[in-house]
Amino acid sequence: MDPIGLDPGYGLIKVATAGGDFVMPSHVAAVRRVGLAASGLRLARATIVRMGGKEYAIGEGAPMRGAVYESIEDARFLQEPSLALFLGAVARALPSAAEPVALVVGLPVALLQGQQGREIAGGLRRLLTGTHSLEVDGKALSLSVRHVWVRAQPLGVWADWALDDEGQALPGVRRALVGIVDVGWGTVDLIGIQGGQVNADMVAGADLGVRVLLEDASGDDTMPLHELARRFAGGTLTVDERHVSRWATEIAAFVRRRWRRSRPQLVILAGGGIALLKEYGALDVLKAAFAGETLLPHDPVTTGARGLRKLARGLVARERMREALAQAVGQGEVDGDGSEAAAPEGAAAGPTYP
Ligand SMILES: Nc1ncnc2c1ncn2[C@@H]1O[C@H](COP(=O)(O)OP(=O)(O)OP(=O)(O)O)[C@@H](O)[C@H]1O
Ligand SMILES: [Mg+2]
Repeated sequence: MDPIGLDPGYGLIKVATAGGDFVMPSHVAAVRRVGLAASGLRLARATIVRMGGKEYAIGEGAPMRGAVYESIEDARFLQEPSLALFLGAVARALPSAAEPVALVVGLPVALLQGQQGREIAGGLRRLLTGTHSLEVDGKALSLSVRHVWVRAQPLGVWADWALDDEGQALPGVRRALVGIVDVGWGTVDLIGIQGGQVNADMVAGADLGVRVLLEDASGDDTMPLHELARRFAGGTLTVDERHVSRWATEIAAFVRRRWRRSRPQLVILAGGGIALLKEYGALDVLKAAFAGETLLPHDPVTTGARGLRKLARGLVARERMREALAQAVGQGEVDGDGSEAAAPEGAAAGPTYP
C-alpha cells in the first residue's frame, strides 16, 4: 500500500509519494470543446481528467480550457470538480495506479474548526475511499483508495519536522511548543502544536496570502485570481521590493498581535509565501516577530504534504498491526478501520496522533 500525503491548497495542490513531491496549480475547469475553432492553435497545457461521464481540465492551463470553478466555500471540497482535481493530481504523481493507496488529506484549520468541519471531513473521506475509474490524459486507470484520513494542513508541517521517514516521533519533539506560520495563496495561518495537539490560543488566520501581494502589485483588484497567479508564474506580473516589504511587515504585525501571549520554542515557516519572501530577501522582517528559533524547511511549499505522508506511513503501520492482531485472535476483523474522520478533538490537528 502506497502512503500518500495530499495537501490541496487554494493556489497549489501538493502530493507527496514514495517517488517524491508533485505540485501543480489547483485550477479546475469543465472542458469546453472548441472543435475546429482551435485549428492551428495550440491548446493551453492542462491535464484532462474524465470521470463520471464528465471531462475536467486541471492544472496550469485549465482556465484556458473551459469554465473555471473558483469557489472559496468549504463545501467545494465535496464537489466533483475538486474530486477530479484530487484524483487527477494523485494519478499524475504516481508512476502507476497498480498499488492501492492510503491518503492523508490536509484541510484548512478554519474549515475543520467550523460547524461544518466534521461533515466535510467525513464526506470527503467517504467520497475518496474506494476504487475510482478515471481517464487521465487519455489513459484509463483504476485507482484504489484503501484508507483516507483527514488532518489539519499545518499538522503536516509539524509532522515533517517531528517524525522520521517511518512516521515515528523523533526524541523530544512532543514536549516542545512549536509555532507554525503558513503563508499560502489565500491566507496566512498560525497554529501552535505541542505533542501532536493544538494550542488553541495560538490558532489564527488572516486573508494575507500571496494573493494580497499580487493584487497590490497589479493595481487591479478585479482580475480573476487564476489570472493573477498565471501572470506572476509567467513573469508578466512582477512585484518589487517595496510591495514585498510592505506585505512582509503586515504579516509580521499580524503574527505579533496574535501571538502576544505565546512563547513557542521553535517557529516553522511554511507555504509558497515564505519561498517568495526568501527570494526577495524579506524573511528577516518576519523572523523579527519571534523571540525563539525559526526553522525554514528545505522546501516550504511541499513540507506540509511530506509531513502528511509521514503521518500516512505511521497510520498504515498501525492499520497493519490492527489487521495482524485481528488475525491472531481469529476475529477476522477488529472494530473500525482506523480511517476516522476528523474527530472532534481532531477538529484542528487531528486526534492526538502520533
Ligand atoms: N518558489 C516560489 N517562489 C515564489 N513564489 C512562490 C514559490 N512557490 C510558490 N509561490 C507562490 O506562493 C503561492 C502560495 O503557495 P502555497 O502552495 O503555499 O499556497 P496554497 O497552499 O495553495 O494556499 P492556501 O494555503 O491559502 O490554501 C503560490 O500560489 C505561488 O504564487
Ligand atoms: Mg497551504
